Amino acid sequence: MWLNFYFGVSMSESDAVAISQDKNGGYGGGPGQMPHLATTYAAVNTLITLGSEKALLSIDRENLHKFFLRMKDSSGAFRMHDGGEIDVRACYTAISVASILNILDDELVKGLGNYILSCQTYEGGIAGEPSSEAHGGYTFCGLATMILINEADRLDLPSLIDWVAFRQGVECGFQGRANKLVDGCYSFWQGGSLALAQRLLPIVRQQLQLSLIGVQPSVECKTNNGFTAEEAGLDNENLSHFGFSFIQRHSECGPLFQSVALQQYILLCSQVLEGGFKDKPGKHRDFYHSCYCLSGLSLSQHSWSGDAGAAPLPGAVLGPYTNLLEPVHPLFNVVLDKYYKSHEFFSAL
Ligand code: FPP
Ligand code: ZN
Repeated sequence: MWLNFYFGVSMSESDAVAISQDKNGGYGGGPGQMPHLATTYAAVNTLITLGSEKALLSIDRENLHKFFLRMKDSSGAFRMHDGGEIDVRACYTAISVASILNILDDELVKGLGNYILSCQTYEGGIAGEPSSEAHGGYTFCGLATMILINEADRLDLPSLIDWVAFRQGVECGFQGRANKLVDGCYSFWQGGSLALAQRLLPIVRQQLQLSLIGVQPSVECKTNNGFTAEEAGLDNENLSHFGFSFIQRHSECGPLFQSVALQQYILLCSQVLEGGFKDKPGKHRDFYHSCYCLSGLSLSQHSWSGDAGAAPLPGAVLGPYTNLLEPVHPLFNVVLDKYYKSHEFFSAL
């Protein structure tokens, strides 16, 4: 498809994204705008979703790495843009992009696990910054980041899972934090956190056993996201490998949330019959809620399959089979097939 909206010139979708790339690395919200980690994450995931060689080659990985280093703070965390706010969302967007593009290294990871750990609250969820309130958006970002840097076992996973699971309400959808209303976008932020946790059961089991004898998860505990060194791909010493080994892993259990109930909320309360999705009845549809309701719907449908990409089990999909969506990679939120294609492409560079 070709677009016509910039300067009246025809351009492909990948060109339209590429012209937002800053000459010093990173992507802005549009041409000439300041590079920002959220728009960089959106741009790179969009290019991976488009999937053509032209789209993937248009990403300036060397300058992107420089941009990430510029956003790195002495605390180990990242800021969203030059002079911008430091939070867990910035950490996730930087690490997700660095990992998927195969440019994740020790310099980017240094001190990050300590920062995320300092954001896990007494409730069990993760806050945007130290001393703030646990929130579903940041809980997903923090947990996904810890998995991507191979430090998930430093979090208190039983209490994180407990907090997220109790955010699914009688309305069948998820709320973002305690005592707030449910909202369709948390289908992904909260549902996605539980989809990730589902693949971390070996660590959860170990932490529960340790807690029986009074030992808290500690910095010493190193289990490679619950993999053996070989499964984790540690032999190739590539930090970007964790996103790949994680999705290859067999999941030992079904969903840690009511997956069919969540599909009911998404399809019956968030869906707009004319197309698109919204936060809740009474609100308007928008692209943000359409994206995250669909991603949450996909995770719910595929949450009973032990292996990523396998056909969903009977009864796992609410309504006709035509409701079935493509599986997404729960760490990056891109369609799994597109992820595999980009993984192959960037591993070879
Ligand atoms: C609270 O809004 C919402 C936030 C504080 C932001 C949540 C963070 C995310 C959704 C993660 C973003 C990550 C990426 C990758 C873009 P609110 O007070 O209006 O909502 P609430 O009442 O539901 O808490
Ligand atoms: Zn929302």
